[in-house]
Amino acid sequence: MISTATVYSITQGFTLRCDSIAPDKSISHRSAMFSLLAKGESVIENFLRAEDTMNTLQIVKDLGAEIEDDGHIIKIRSNGIQEPFDILDCGNSGTGMRLFCGLLASAKGHFILTGDEYLKRRPMKRVTTPLKDIGAFLDGRSEGDLAPLSIRGGSLKAFNYKSKIASAQVKSAMILAALSADGECSYEEPELSRDHTERMLKGMGAKLEVDGLVTKIQPLKGLLEPLIIRVPSDPSSAFFFAVAAAITPGSQVVIEGVTFNETRIEAFKALEKMGTLISYELKDEKYEPIGNITVTYAPLKAITIEDNISWLIDELPALCIAMACAEGTSVVKNAHELRVKESDRISTVVDNLKNCDIKTTEYEDGYTVTGGTLQPALINSFGDHRIAMSFAIGGLKCGMKIEDIECIQTSFPNFFDILKEITKVQI
Ligand code: S3P
Repeated sequence: MISTATVYSITQGFTLRCDSIAPDKSISHRSAMFSLLAKGESVIENFLRAEDTMNTLQIVKDLGAEIEDDGHIIKIRSNGIQEPFDILDCGNSGTGMRLFCGLLASAKGHFILTGDEYLKRRPMKRVTTPLKDIGAFLDGRSEGDLAPLSIRGGSLKAFNYKSKIASAQVKSAMILAALSADGECSYEEPELSRDHTERMLKGMGAKLEVDGLVTKIQPLKGLLEPLIIRVPSDPSSAFFFAVAAAITPGSQVVIEGVTFNETRIEAFKALEKMGTLISYELKDEKYEPIGNITVTYAPLKAITIEDNISWLIDELPALCIAMACAEGTSVVKNAHELRVKESDRISTVVDNLKNCDIKTTEYEDGYTVTGGTLQPALINSFGDHRIAMSFAIGGLKCGMKIEDIECIQTSFPNFFDILKEITKVQI
């Protein structure tokens, strides 16, 4: 069944205080997985209850952890990773699948990781090749590039790995493998990618040293300290509502309790460069700096985005809506990674913008967007949550029909509830 949402345009500015943005997806995945490495009970508050992260939680359970969930706080106790009875289903999540590859590469037993039709088309060699190089037994379709993947845990050799891509998923998989390698390991990346894994594992007592783009990891001598964490709001989810304020004259949004990690808020910085007024109020610091972000409308001008791409890769679809409403032609370059996300986000962004009568040009590693007047259209999400939500926000300008909206459940189940505080939505 394909569900469609109709988003109605608004004619007036709005103010919105958001304390219910979805909890951070990256941190939620990691908090469940890393609990498997701890002795005693990990306690996770504000875990993201969306399909991707609930799949990860189920896998953690399938790997032998005891989970107590009162609907508010999740407690996880593990006795080490146990061989599961059945295959492990990561659903739509590349983060889940790639991080589990690193975690399970040294675990005792046989593991099969699978996913939905989209995940089974995404490249896994970026983790399976370096893991195989250090002695892991991994295989999959297309010579180990495509899921389902099978893993037979084994002993891993120490490594010095220099990655060609700035990917937190690859980095995290290799760091997790390094924790059980037979000596000190180092991992180097070309640009800093999000660093939640390093922050959280260090907070749990792992010996990790980060020096610029190089992370040195000492193998674990025993188990880690349990994780006690409140997951902050997800800046990538919050960003949809930042764009909503940025394209609607007279509007202001306050987003509460979001991580200010510099590898995650680059899209807010881009919006600021385009003219939007943004202020940050730091409130707390545990594993991550956390605070409130206030976004106030001001006229938008075009921007060129070519650096620190991994810091805003997930927000580029939403940013294209701001670009479509800006004066001038915006350019996105060096963003080839967009092609291997939940959809090929270069073509899905470009095709859908064209549907909305916006002038755009597609390149191998990016696109241009010339600001204009968004026109109502029938949007194909291509099963990609961020495409669906970005164009729903575009609907505030002109009205929009979004086809195939189930995918939003993977990361932001209450997205439409918040959008309904601004405008009328029919599902
Ligand atoms: C993520 C890393 C990024 C990001 C993804 C989540 C993570 O992917 O796009 O949504 O939690 O590590 P890459 O590591 O492939 O860049």
